[in-house]
Amino acid sequence: MKKDLLKLLDLKAEDILHILDTADKLKAEHKAKKAHDFPPGRTLAMIFEKSSTRTRVSFEVGITQLGGHGIFLSSADSQLGRGESIADTARVLDRYCDCIMIRTYEQAQVEELAKYSAIPVINALTDFEHPCQVLADLMTIREHKGRLAGLKACWIGDGNNVANSMIAGCLKCGMDVAIACPAGYEPDEQVLNFAENFGNFTLTNDPKTAAKGADVIFTDVWSSMGQEGEAEKRKKAFAGYQVNARIMELAAPGCMIQHCLPAHKGEEITEEIFEMHAQEIFDEAENRLHAQKAIMYILMKKV
Ligand code: CP
Ligand code: NVA
Repeated sequence: MKKDLLKLLDLKAEDILHILDTADKLKAEHKAKKAHDFPPGRTLAMIFEKSSTRTRVSFEVGITQLGGHGIFLSSADSQLGRGESIADTARVLDRYCDCIMIRTYEQAQVEELAKYSAIPVINALTDFEHPCQVLADLMTIREHKGRLAGLKACWIGDGNNVANSMIAGCLKCGMDVAIACPAGYEPDEQVLNFAENFGNFTLTNDPKTAAKGADVIFTDVWSSMGQEGEAEKRKKAFAGYQVNARIMELAAPGCMIQHCLPAHKGEEITEEIFEMHAQEIFDEAENRLHAQKAIMYILMKKV
């Protein structure tokens, strides 16, 4: 593993599987109320420039369960919000803390933070990727299906940050990937270049084609954080891109749903289908905790 976890595009398949195996081990230890083998007193700085429920709580609970401590830093209340540079922030936090987690807009900010920081940096969502989310998703799919390689994963909706991570993560784990999104809302070009050269990848405007025979269908909101001003335009563009009963009929029997949450029921997914798959979706939310503990365990212990 590299020093940091910045994007799944950077990770080798063996790194992803090592994180998933470690997450399974930490989850089993936690359920059995067994102590984790982790040095006590480690501190995680948690920088948030966007809202969060799951990421904030799961990282803070996660570092606490590892015997450490998390410090919440919103940009509004720290000097970052008054213009202190990322480079200087990195060189201050690495004198106090053992790891930095950041949720922000531009991927370049996370890369800059990692460049200037001597301690590991974890991307907790940018406009480009949401790697922690998709590691939790892969963990959940493997728990439910017993394997990843050879399964068909489908994405219906916006080619956004979660879609970019989903493509990189699923392909690297040997899954077939089919993406359905409207023209103009495709995943990032860098991700498409990777995927098209990798194989087992299709990109279409037709959700039905993408859903055919799928073992897991992913979706996410039509407007991500920072795109609130485009919400009305996006609602029109994504009108035919809903995960509903008609789509589920085309999928393989026992098809799972993964939704990173929060969900806009009635838009990207119907309430009926969401509730039918609530077990998988909330297992996915729970696994954010275990997957992120694994990331911190590996990066801070350098194992
Ligand atoms: N899925 C996810 O990252 O949720 P939050 O925005 O609540 O952290
Ligand atoms: N694509 C969404 C994910 C939220 C967890 C966003 O970036 O807002």
